[in-house]
Amino acid sequence: LPTIDPPAEGPEFLVVANRLPIDRDDSGDEPGWKTAPGGLVTGLAPVVRRASGAWIGWPGITDTDVDPFEHDGMHLVPVRLSSEDFQMYYEGFSNGTLWPLFHDVIAPPAFHRTWWDKYLEVNTRFAIRTAETAGKNATVWVHDYQLFLVPQLLRSMRPDVSIGFFLHIPFPPVELYSQLPWRSEILRGVQGADLIGFQRPTDAANFRRCVRKHSGFITKGDDITVTADPDLGTEEHITRAAHYPISVDTDALIELADTPAIQARAQEIRRELGNPDIVILGTDRMDYTKGLRHRLKAVHELLREGRLDKDKVTFVQIATPSRERLDHYKQIRTEVELAVGHTNGEFSGLHNQVIHYFHYSFPRDEMTAFYLAADVMLVTPLRDGMNLVAKEYTACRTDDSGALVLSEFAGAADQLTQAVLINPHDITELKNGIMRAVGMEVREQRRRMRPMRRRLKDETVHTWARSFLSDLAWIAGAEPVPLET
Ligand code: G6P
Repeated sequence: LPTIDPPAEGPEFLVVANRLPIDRDDSGDEPGWKTAPGGLVTGLAPVVRRASGAWIGWPGITDTDVDPFEHDGMHLVPVRLSSEDFQMYYEGFSNGTLWPLFHDVIAPPAFHRTWWDKYLEVNTRFAIRTAETAGKNATVWVHDYQLFLVPQLLRSMRPDVSIGFFLHIPFPPVELYSQLPWRSEILRGVQGADLIGFQRPTDAANFRRCVRKHSGFITKGDDITVTADPDLGTEEHITRAAHYPISVDTDALIELADTPAIQARAQEIRRELGNPDIVILGTDRMDYTKGLRHRLKAVHELLREGRLDKDKVTFVQIATPSRERLDHYKQIRTEVELAVGHTNGEFSGLHNQVIHYFHYSFPRDEMTAFYLAADVMLVTPLRDGMNLVAKEYTACRTDDSGALVLSEFAGAADQLTQAVLINPHDITELKNGIMRAVGMEVREQRRRMRPMRRRLKDETVHTWARSFLSDLAWIAGAEPVPLET
């Protein structure tokens, strides 16, 4: 790739992610925009907004050119994807190969050379767009598994910029990663960054092991010496691979949770549910990694055994639509809906529906009201990079009440250590965890919530961005991005 001159004027701080923070929504009479799904957007939007940065990404609609535009204090730069790109780069290589491989092969990954070719092509498009947009000596922060190749491609076109990369999902153990036919290319691509961030220490350690095995580079502590590559025209550099656990915008969540209208709505939700003694809540993307089947099985068995009283307990499960054309996603939806129907058929009455299931997403205010209405929150994925829902629930419980049941396979378990931690594969342990939370006295709830909430006050998404970006500036020998506090 040729080197590209920086534009005369361009942003000093750019985020590059597969998705823009908003999705084009053409379902109504007029084309509109709605918040894009997933934890990446939840986490990054407040950071980019505060920094008045630029965001390069796909606008959620195929075969359509969208001009750059301003939104909510951010400069958004759309990257066009054709329906073929969508199918082979997004549904294919990103979500049919990398996603399952990086989530413990819960679903079998598929390896197709045509998908890889498209992944390389689309990553190159993102890199060129970034190279043409970024101001001189800018800081570019690339996000997630859809864009592993962007750092190296960008480095060869724009050696002046500092490049950070953050992986929101787990990094698998070397034995699984090694299955990937393009294992060396992916490593080389991401090592174009000056700093590579992961959610958990184990993710960073897995990555460094893979680098030693498949790139043959020397690592010392967190640092990797990436040797010069004459083919790519790049010089030797050091890249650091370390963990930077992402968090939430705690103050903003507390402010929402303290809003009288939202608190009133939470009471209303409980009334509309028929004033059950206990409201249990789960909210996830409809994804096979989230442990929804296991969770529903546990709830069913507890009802059957009478340990959960169908007249006193209501379970609300929100499962927002995701990657709906992929077979494994169709399958999990069918399984979830069968299980919900099965349990409701057996235990609901005319006035008490045991499971309320929603296959759509709720606006932020309504979601906050749900958090406030829920006595017990179930976050029980089989594997999850971080899971910001667990942190959102905790941050919103401003009176320190409520009980969180949390999978040890979610990154959040490293910070939310006072949650009821469970192994979701162990249905007996999951059931006991749910009962422990349901029966927990308010005093114990507070004893657990208080330290977790204190931690979220100190460890927010803003402190996360600051610590990553100041380390990046130090490693790259550049000026740190000025982030307002
Ligand atoms: C996870 C991934 C994100 C992704 C989000 C939503 O949080 O880490 O990169 O954007 O899921 O998935 P989607 O495929 O709809 O972008």
